[in-house]
Amino acid sequence: MSRPELHFTPVHNWMNDPNGFIYYNGEYHLFYQYFPYDIKWGTMHWGHKTSKNLIHWKDEGVALYPSKDFDRNGCFSGSAIEVDGKMYIYYTAIIYSKLNPQNIHVSGDGLIASQAMIISEDGYTFDPDTKKVIIPTFSKDDLLGHISNTRDPKVWKETDQYYMVVGSQYEASEKMHGEVLIYTSKDAIDWHYSNRLIDESIDSNMWECPDMFEVDGQRILIMSPENIVNDGENYPSHATWSIVNFNNETCEASIVQKPQFLDYGLDLYAPQTTIDKDGNRIVIAWLRMPKCGEDGDWIGLYTFPRVLYMKDNHLCFKVHPNVDKLFKHKVKDFSLSPRKISCTMNLDSYLNIGGFEITFKDNCICTNREKVFTQAAKLFNDESQVGKRFKTPRINGECHIDIYVDKQVIEIYVNDGKYVLSNIVYDLKEELNYQNINDLKLYAIK
Ligand code: FRU
Repeated sequence: MSRPELHFTPVHNWMNDPNGFIYYNGEYHLFYQYFPYDIKWGTMHWGHKTSKNLIHWKDEGVALYPSKDFDRNGCFSGSAIEVDGKMYIYYTAIIYSKLNPQNIHVSGDGLIASQAMIISEDGYTFDPDTKKVIIPTFSKDDLLGHISNTRDPKVWKETDQYYMVVGSQYEASEKMHGEVLIYTSKDAIDWHYSNRLIDESIDSNMWECPDMFEVDGQRILIMSPENIVNDGENYPSHATWSIVNFNNETCEASIVQKPQFLDYGLDLYAPQTTIDKDGNRIVIAWLRMPKCGEDGDWIGLYTFPRVLYMKDNHLCFKVHPNVDKLFKHKVKDFSLSPRKISCTMNLDSYLNIGGFEITFKDNCICTNREKVFTQAAKLFNDESQVGKRFKTPRINGECHIDIYVDKQVIEIYVNDGKYVLSNIVYDLKEELNYQNINDLKLYAIK
């Protein structure tokens, strides 16, 4: 069994967050959190791939690796922008506060984080000598930020200046809370603290990977809050989106609507957006895998790139047209080479894709991957944290779904992507069974 054909995977070993996603000089560049030596997380490097179409990716090897005292234990997540034809890359530089004598690739006791940048002349060469710290490590006396947990700078340009959001945490009433720190710069090199976004009604102790942008005139904050849900069944950290108010002069920011999940399969984490060739805001995200791919020594997979749009004050998603238009051949058979299944569900509908079940219960799309998910799933060494059953919020009225199956991953778009539910699966069978399904259509890419 070969790996997914249309989804982004590492050639070998461990991959987590997407980083530095950018359309630059006629090509998409996508970097990724990468541990090149093993199939588990360790000293973070940035892997690098390029693509002309967001479908086929060329492996460009390792772009960033620890080389300076300040990033000696890792180059954590970050972003890229273009400035005067050059690629500016921002990342979190990591020092382990104590080395683990048995394994130097994980910290023996916490992190020391600063925000750093590196300038690439061409998007292919990354001279470590251009690395520099732009936001130093916070000290215990600072009233904001955190010495260890301040990370994932996301930069953009707006009006005549550059903005950066950084995920962090602070203590109040003997509890840790997540926060987003906002910096500004005139030249994208020299950065100044401007403001912070906090909201103690969100029960999460750290906000990772913030990303702020406009979609259809609406300001949105995407982030990956840690420990936001702890029902013992699912991953404890989930990516969310919220509508926010943002004043780009004072950088005052506030969340105006409770965060909602970006994807109800809850494998999704650390999404990052960019602008595509045609000006669409697109997002790509990590789907966490509890063990290696079926065909070997790689672990971690990205969603399809998704175009963001607003409908009735709700952030919606559609598969990027470059990918979606590949599914143009109407077929009768189901096989495990990429397939798109479109249909309408009603309350008696049942769909079984090679052991992966989809039902429409209590007006929610529900998935059950028990039969196609390893019993040995041991992410974070705790199988109970890897969920097997998932559901969307309640859907009013009709329910049309588009399902994309690519060997080990199933992405379900409900009612034109108002909700998306993506699940990693293992050992899917080559069969499709269903009852009470309307308007079923099957598409292949060839
Ligand atoms: C999110 C994250 C980031 C961090 C990176 C380290 O998955 O924890 O906050 O920069 O992964 O690999």
